[in-house]
Amino acid sequence: MVKSTSENAQKSSPIATKRKAAHLKKRSAKKAGARKRVGVRSTALREKALCGKALAPGAGTSGNAVFLVGFMGAGKSSVGRALGQRLNWLFEDLDDRIAFREGRTVAEIFRDNGEPEFRRAEHAALKQVLQELRGGGTRIVALGGGAFVQSGNAALLKAGGVPTVFLDAPVDELWQRCCKQASESGTERPLLSSRDRFGELHATRRRTYLKAALKIETGGRTVDAIAAEIADVLGLKKIALRTEQGEVE
Ligand code: S3P
Repeated sequence: MVKSTSENAQKSSPIATKRKAAHLKKRSAKKAGARKRVGVRSTALREKALCGKALAPGAGTSGNAVFLVGFMGAGKSSVGRALGQRLNWLFEDLDDRIAFREGRTVAEIFRDNGEPEFRRAEHAALKQVLQELRGGGTRIVALGGGAFVQSGNAALLKAGGVPTVFLDAPVDELWQRCCKQASESGTERPLLSSRDRFGELHATRRRTYLKAALKIETGGRTVDAIAAEIADVLGLKKIALRTEQGEVE
């Protein structure tokens, strides 16, 4: 199962559940189940996030997209989906784009060709999203846990001028979420190995995640509350939904 590419699934999607398909056709929401409380604590980076950014939708790449970063289990897809729903912006999970472009799941890419090949595909997919965004439109993009720590990807995001938001959580909680998702939804995470390795990888990567424009602590609040906080701090504007009958909002 792959992560949902499509926009705006359940508003109350919990942060805890991430589902991946064994099959590309089976595209379901990455998070499901009971609503979980996760917390938001904006930091001094709030100022950094707001500093000098024109965030009106449609105003070029820097104002029409938000990229969510963080470790496995951080809730990037759940929060992204909720944020997309709140704003009527498209939501996309980069791993879904990768799977679609490659014609196989992320787990299959890792298994068949290893992590370097996955990183190559990830970089190419990110490049493609940023290219699309240059043409307009709005997008919330959830990046895989390793994407932002690849310097080439960070450079692309910087050059694109897009805001990045780091969803933080204590490593024990991240581990618990991932284990729960694996057992309840069969979520396959190729880099989910031992608790020790998970902790080491998290400690190494967190230093890079902290370079994101905004950090949000995700313990003790709902996905919707986090999404609301991001929209508020970044000053993101809801856009009208256009239908064949005309605008509805
Ligand atoms: C990865 C995290 C995964 C996925 C791939 C590699 C990582 O995404 O991109 O398995 O390097 O941490 P999630 O963070 O959404 O689980």
